[in-house]
Amino acid sequence: MNLKKLAADKAVELIENGMTVGLGTGSTAYWAIHGIADRMKEGLSIRAVATSEASDKLARELGIPIVPFHEVDVIDITIDGADETDSQMNLIKGGGGALLREKIVAASSRQLIIIVDESKVVDRLGKFPLPVEVVPFAVELTLKKLAKLGCEPKLRLTEDGSLFKTDNGNYTADCSFGSISDPAGLHDELNAIPGVVDNGLFIRMASRVIVGSEKGISTL
Ligand code: A5P
Repeated sequence: MNLKKLAADKAVELIENGMTVGLGTGSTAYWAIHGIADRMKEGLSIRAVATSEASDKLARELGIPIVPFHEVDVIDITIDGADETDSQMNLIKGGGGALLREKIVAASSRQLIIIVDESKVVDRLGKFPLPVEVVPFAVELTLKKLAKLGCEPKLRLTEDGSLFKTDNGNYTADCSFGSISDPAGLHDELNAIPGVVDNGLFIRMASRVIVGSEKGISTL
């Protein structure tokens, strides 16, 4: 069973005619974008804002109308994936390299619906290395400051070994904290470091998490 698609299809059911929809990024959001395109073929009319160049491209290829974010006041619903969620719906995001735009879109959304397969639900966040978007200037210094918070930051590389660049022209430091006891506190400490643009902790932002499992759908 495709558990990502299962969760995505359930989330897409929440979209209503006339809504402005935020499109997430990653392999689970991929299914949601396809699901939206399928519903549009059946008559659903929406407009969308994308959280990455990749999702923008996919949506356009599927005929979903994309509007520039600055033309939108409020996004009715955003459907996005996550790398980890705890039972409080605090999230780690950014494995797909799009955390900054994802957070900007999420923060302007009436509802943030997170779609995951059951492997993403954890007791405590932190097994997945936390993505942190950092500016290229003086990046070595920023990495040292990140390490002082108790992690091993590693700059993300592309398949050809060059430094991965986000859609915003920044780098991503993947920071292994092991287990994060205070996600909200860590979020603020990370963002207080000059050179850090934002980090992948999404605290109290999700309205609902839809989990696809072998037993079916459940929600947090
Ligand atoms: C993209 O930057 C991420 O936040 C994704 O939403 C997250 O990495 C989950 O991706 P998958 O759905 O591909 O697991």
